[in-house]
Amino acid sequence: MTALWLDADPTHLRARGSLKWTATPASVAAWVAESDLGTAPAVSEALHGAIDRGLTGYLPRDLAAETREACAAWQRERYGWDVPVSRVHLVPDVIEAFRIAVHHHTRAGGAVVLPTPAYMPFVTLPEQWDRSVVRVPMVGDADGQATFDLVGIEEALSAHPGSLLALVNPHNPTGRVHERAELIALAEVVQRTGAWVFADEIHAPLVGRGRTHVPYASLSPATAAHTTTATAASKGWNIPGLKCAQVIVTDEDDAAWWEANGEQNGHGVSTLGAVATTAAYRHGGPWLEGLLDYVAENSTALREALGPQIPFADPEGTYLVWLDLRGPLAALPSPPPPGEVARWLLETAGVAVVDGMANGGHHGFVRFNLATPRPLVVEAGRRLRSALGC
Ligand SMILES: Cc1ncc(COP(=O)(O)O)c(C=O)c1O
Repeated sequence: MTALWLDADPTHLRARGSLKWTATPASVAAWVAESDLGTAPAVSEALHGAIDRGLTGYLPRDLAAETREACAAWQRERYGWDVPVSRVHLVPDVIEAFRIAVHHHTRAGGAVVLPTPAYMPFVTLPEQWDRSVVRVPMVGDADGQATFDLVGIEEALSAHPGSLLALVNPHNPTGRVHERAELIALAEVVQRTGAWVFADEIHAPLVGRGRTHVPYASLSPATAAHTTTATAASKGWNIPGLKCAQVIVTDEDDAAWWEANGEQNGHGVSTLGAVATTAAYRHGGPWLEGLLDYVAENSTALREALGPQIPFADPEGTYLVWLDLRGPLAALPSPPPPGEVARWLLETAGVAVVDGMANGGHHGFVRFNLATPRPLVVEAGRRLRSALGC
């Protein structure tokens, strides 16, 4: 297996031109969910081949069909979920899938119920689409891991009939992979309240190392009938700029609507994105194992560098971790106010992270991206620790 890209020189990383490294002057860029660790050789070979063949026009139908098949095969082989190819549709990205689901399954003035902390655009976008966002903070389970507040979710869904629950699993930003039992309990709440679920499973390929991803819609006929699922190869193989995500529809009415509107919904899908996605799902699995091992070791290295006063849970899926800075922040003589923690860390420590306030109002937490060469993870950990005086 070809090695990951492990060049830890920030000048070189910036020269590669990624958003992550070019948008901030940070010494260590650990904010947006992009990976510095490259992509699978099978993906880059497929892309080079497509360019060499001049495959840069509109998405050919036979290629779209191959991509849909590759996604269905990945779901079947990896998660044991048998979805017919006809139920897999291509869209440019998961945000677009979310936009379509919100518009199709809620009315203007309706609500999106969102467990928080959450992926940042889910906090802000529904309001731009004339839907309110009802935040329900997650709670700690017996092991202190973030899980659903089922009572809070049921109250929110009951108070807003016809709302949509945004379920992100594996979870951004905590890195949790929800267990089957948690999802079944959530499904009972959804079923009682008659809500619709948008299941964002974009990080599912990043589940490995003995953990299992359970697609929410695969749980039962009931979840299949109240869910739109979105996924992509874009996080696992670092191809989000290539614009090819997949929607999996499992409700009969939803399937009929997508059958009629799928081509229009997929207009922005890129041809190179379909090439890369097909190669990733068909041939990129083994490469991911190396990536996941490396990310797990980065998590250990970060823990050592941060020391015991900045706790976080190892990611179970995703390469994101949710750092709890509340203790050290409270001990500072003049701590940054809510919403200013990430900016303060950028200025004081030279580390770019996502401020927990952007994840739905979680002051004192920051999201940190582990998909970077280890020396930089360690450097970031030391810098954060020193800035926070712990
Ligand atoms: C949970 C989650 N959903 C959606 C997205 C955005 O995906 P896309 O680029 O396909 O819109 C991200 C990107 O980080 C994400 O983490």
